[in-house]
Amino acid sequence: MNTATDVSRGIEDLRESLGSDLTIAAHYYVSHEVKRWADEIGDSLQLARLAAEDSSAHHLVFCGVLFMGETAAILSGTQRNVYLPRADAGCPLADSATIDGVLSAWDGLDHRDRFLPITYVNSSAEIKAFCGERGGATCTSSSARQVFEAVEESGKRVFFMPDENLGHNTAVEMGIPEEEISRFNPDTLEFEGAGPGDARILLWGGSCPVHVEFSPEDVRAARNRGLRVAAHPECRRQVCAVSDEVGSTDHMVDVVSAGRNESWAIGSEINLVDYLQRQNPRRHIESLGAARACEDMHRITAMDLLATLESIASGDAVPVRVPTAIAEPARIALDRMLSIVEGRGLTP
Ligand code: 13P
Ligand code: SF4
Repeated sequence: MNTATDVSRGIEDLRESLGSDLTIAAHYYVSHEVKRWADEIGDSLQLARLAAEDSSAHHLVFCGVLFMGETAAILSGTQRNVYLPRADAGCPLADSATIDGVLSAWDGLDHRDRFLPITYVNSSAEIKAFCGERGGATCTSSSARQVFEAVEESGKRVFFMPDENLGHNTAVEMGIPEEEISRFNPDTLEFEGAGPGDARILLWGGSCPVHVEFSPEDVRAARNRGLRVAAHPECRRQVCAVSDEVGSTDHMVDVVSAGRNESWAIGSEINLVDYLQRQNPRRHIESLGAARACEDMHRITAMDLLATLESIASGDAVPVRVPTAIAEPARIALDRMLSIVEGRGLTP
C-alpha cells in the first residue's frame, strides 16, 4: 500500500524526470495535498489564460473539473496535451444546462436577434460552441461584467447561462433594474419576470450546489462576531447584497491578503478558505456559516495526480479530447472572452 510519503516521493521523482515538459495547474478549490504540487494555482480565468499561452511543456496536468480540462484542451490546441487526474470530477452547475435545453430556450425566443448568448465557462464544450456560432462568448466569474458590458456596447442584450446568481449579481452591479431581468426556468421551459421581449438580460435558472447554500443569516451572524464577509458571485443575490466584498476566487484572494489585519468569513468553497488561511497565517479566516466542499473538486487526490504522472511517463495517459467540430466554435467563444479581457473588445 502507498503511504503518503511514497506518494509524495513518487510525484517528486516524476516531476523531476518529466522536467520542463510538464506543467501542473490547480484550481484553488482542490485540496492542499494536490495544490502543493502545482506550478500554477489560479481561478478559472487565470488557468484559461495559462492554457492559451505558448509553452514548451507538452503535458499540462489540470487539477480541476471536466469543464476546466475541456477549456484548457480547446485553448491549448495542438501545442500540448491536457490531462485530468479524475475524469469523473464534473460540475453539477455545468450539467444543469444541456445543449437541447439551451436550444429550446433560444429557439423559443421571439426576439432572439436582439440577444447574444453568453455562457459561463462552467458549461459543456457544446454550449460554448453554441455561443461561438451565434456571435456570443464565454465568461468567468472575474470577467462576467466586462463581457456583459461589451455585449451592451455592441447594441445587443445578454442571454446568460447557466448560473442565474452570477448573472443576477453582475446585472445588478451594472445598474440593470430587477424589472428588466428575465429568468428562464429550465424545468418548466418558461420565462419568468420581465417578458423576454422587454428584458435587458435573460438568465438561465441554474445554480452551484455549494454557493447557493450560503444565506443572509450566515452573513449577519458573521458580522455580529466582528468578521468581514467576502462572497463569490455564485452566491444568492440576497447574500451578495449584504456582503462587504463580492468577487471571483482571485478577487477574494487579493482582498483578504491585501487588507489590514481583518478577520474574514468567506462565502465560498472550503479548500479556498484553507488556502487563504495558509497564505495569511496571522489572520483569522473561516467559512461563512457551515464549511462547504465542492465534492467534485474534493475527489481529486495526490494519489490520482501520481497515477496521472505515471501514465504520462509510460506513454499510456489519455488526454482530454474535444471533437474538432465542437472545439473550433467553442474556441471562438473563448477567444472573444480573452479579447474583451485584454482590452481588444468583442471581436466578430
Ligand atoms: P472562479 O471563476 O472564481 O474560478 O470560480 C469557478 C467555480 O467553479 C466557482 O464555483
Ligand atoms: Fe461547479 Fe460549484 Fe464545484 Fe464550482 S464549486 S465546480 S460551480 S459545483
